[in-house]
Amino acid sequence: MESTNGLVTDAEIKSFFDSAPPLRDSAGITNKLKEFIQLNSAPQGNASPRRVVCVTSGGTTVPLEQRCVRYIDNFSSGHRGSTSTEYFIKAGYAVIFLYRRGTCQPYCRSLPEDPLLECFEFTNGSNVQVRQSYSEAVKRAINDHHAAIAAGHLLKLPFTTIFEYLQMLQMIAISMRDLGPHAMFYLAAAVSDFYVPWKDMAEHKIQSASGPLDMRLVQVPKMLSVLRKEWAPMAFCISFKLETDTKILLEKADMALKKYKMHMVIANELLTRKEEVTVVTADKKIPVRRDKTQAGSDVEKPLIELLVEKHSAHIKDADK
Ligand code: PMT
Repeated sequence: MESTNGLVTDAEIKSFFDSAPPLRDSAGITNKLKEFIQLNSAPQGNASPRRVVCVTSGGTTVPLEQRCVRYIDNFSSGHRGSTSTEYFIKAGYAVIFLYRRGTCQPYCRSLPEDPLLECFEFTNGSNVQVRQSYSEAVKRAINDHHAAIAAGHLLKLPFTTIFEYLQMLQMIAISMRDLGPHAMFYLAAAVSDFYVPWKDMAEHKIQSASGPLDMRLVQVPKMLSVLRKEWAPMAFCISFKLETDTKILLEKADMALKKYKMHMVIANELLTRKEEVTVVTADKKIPVRRDKTQAGSDVEKPLIELLVEKHSAHIKDADK
């Protein structure tokens, strides 16, 4: 079917998924999702079922060889996704954290870059203990993380490639469909725009002796419209727009909002992304800033507070 509005066609989506290498342990992932959603969609005592948000985080890779040695990467440290996850859980949500392996994890932001090597020391030659200067941070990270996992409020699913990311996003969305308006998607991952289809990819390491590399990259179908229309049509959907040129940022966010029928697009500029973002909705552009008067404050706190409020309004509207 030909697209007449610049949106992705069913044929392009089918071709992407048909050409993707099969996802490892897809049955295991399906079971984890089923259990997690069942647990959280059950009524919580007298209160209504817990809301569930899928937070995507980190960048996807595009492999250049099937037995991959080289790949193209997308920038994202995973700070936005992991920090937002903490605030969503604090606000009473259950979070499916779809993250790039090796990127920032929830509850770890007050730890140093290499916690194992920096936070611990030997005493009496053989016993390991936490260094005094990190003891509070380590205790908090471990306790908060264990509490979220033990209560069944956090499910972590890792990806590396664009193939894994989109296959898992589809599985998650379909498994969240029955949650209706109580489901939210918060798509903070930096997703590749171009890829090499699996069948066109060299199997072995590309040889440099063959001279300059000439390679055709195909456009990754944007799945945002299919997520909205087919995979989870009742869910509250928030995507991000990242630009390095502030002059085009809000205009591009506005275009994405309309084109993909997102409920909100969060516009951020690369250099200032930790200080401020703009939440773009159909009728407003709301600036959200980190509270600079508070040491250690971040922009995710006021951002998630605002989104929780907007999600409540979305649920109320759907119940009418
Ligand atoms: O992780 P940090 O270092 O903290 O940085 C956070 C961030 C800057 C990465 C994050 O805030 C952010 O902006 N993420 C989205 C980056 C991005 O891919 O922007 P984009 O303009 O290329 O894509 C816009 C949206 O379309 C994204 O929500 C993405 O999920 C979606 N997309 C993109 C490409 C594609 N082929 N398919 C998609 O669905």
